[in-house]
Amino acid sequence: MTCETTSDRAGVAGLFPPSAAVVGGRLEVGGCALSDVAERFGTPTLVLDEAALRARARRYVDGLARRWPASRVVWASKSLPVTAIYRLMGEEGLGADVAGGGELEMALAGAMDPANLVLHGNAKTDAELTRALAVGVGLIVVDNLDELDRLERLARGPQAVLLRVTPGVEAATHEAIATGHVDSKFGLSPRDLAEARRRLAGHRHLRLEGLHVHVGSQITSTAPFVAALEAIAPLGDFPVYDLGGGLGARYTDADQPPSVEEYLDALTGAARTLLPAGATMLIEPGRSMVAEAACTLYRVVGVKRQATRRFVAVDGGMADNLEVSLYGQRFAATLVDRVGGGDTYALVGRHCESGDQLIDAVALDAPAPGDVLAVPVTGAYCLTMANNYNGALRPPVVFVRDGDARAVVRRETYADLLARDVPA
Ligand SMILES: Cc1ncc(COP(=O)(O)O)c(C=O)c1O
Repeated sequence: MTCETTSDRAGVAGLFPPSAAVVGGRLEVGGCALSDVAERFGTPTLVLDEAALRARARRYVDGLARRWPASRVVWASKSLPVTAIYRLMGEEGLGADVAGGGELEMALAGAMDPANLVLHGNAKTDAELTRALAVGVGLIVVDNLDELDRLERLARGPQAVLLRVTPGVEAATHEAIATGHVDSKFGLSPRDLAEARRRLAGHRHLRLEGLHVHVGSQITSTAPFVAALEAIAPLGDFPVYDLGGGLGARYTDADQPPSVEEYLDALTGAARTLLPAGATMLIEPGRSMVAEAACTLYRVVGVKRQATRRFVAVDGGMADNLEVSLYGQRFAATLVDRVGGGDTYALVGRHCESGDQLIDAVALDAPAPGDVLAVPVTGAYCLTMANNYNGALRPPVVFVRDGDARAVVRRETYADLLARDVPA
């Protein structure tokens, strides 16, 4: 990255995708000045560096294949369910983890090969299972015995399945995004797993291919991934092991998650001693695939001083980024035309809750109404959970690359908000 900035300014600029540069004092990503992108597409807008996204996808696919040739990378599409990104991931040779019928339809609309899709969910409906069977989804991951009952009934032809194991692994992350602990709502307990295996052994259409495990999200050490492998390895030899996702992203300078390569080294290193040599390994990265390729642009609406704090209020907030209020996720921010530095402000949104705060304390350089502000590392789970709080319009998604900016999802309109009303 080329930054004409002081070292303290390099801090926040370094959280943007590798193509980011400060040129003539203006922050650019993918060769596009972010203030121009804001002017053209409005705010809030989710901006994605297409080259960074493709590079990360290839880094995962090539890195895993080098270490474990019988492998597949299955992007956890819940992290950023956008048709254009399903298409991009398919073009880069990835499959997708789809949790539910909506993600399945978007993956199909994005021309993904159904054989490369993995269906997840702890409460899949009959309609979702029927659709997945009909389109030929590659793997259905069975979460519980009730689901297995229904799948046994619905399957009319050969279908490969995995069993999701509750490994009893505590990952150090926010409790809402930990999934592998004993008593988790996800997966089969050891007793139910034994019964599922017995039943699948005798089923005419369903073929047990292997096991699935996922211990949580925003995990910043490799130990829980290795612990999950250690938990499932003694359960028997299978052709396929899907080790889920979970690797953390670097949201602020304080975060030091393992690199993709360190993560893959840890997984495949442990697998070499724990799994059958010929087994196929799947991984399902979501957050670490997409988070760092994006930023969200806002416009400053107001600046005010209260008794002890100064506030900058922007034209978005918890309607486009629930990560803060749900999980306490910490973000950084900068004005795009005065990068880094300045006095400390609380960065707040426009929604009717005091909890609608994007950052409790961030340095901003003389913010004023009309300034464009960027929050980096918003690629994962922000658009996913975007909502219409206070009638907010869900933001557009804009790809930037080589100086070109193009919308792949348009902004919602007020007409969209009214579109589902049933006339009296
Ligand atoms: C089954 C499964 N796989 C993969 C993921 C992706 O996790 P992450 O986005 O943390 O990589 C999730 C998300 O929680 C998940 O539930």
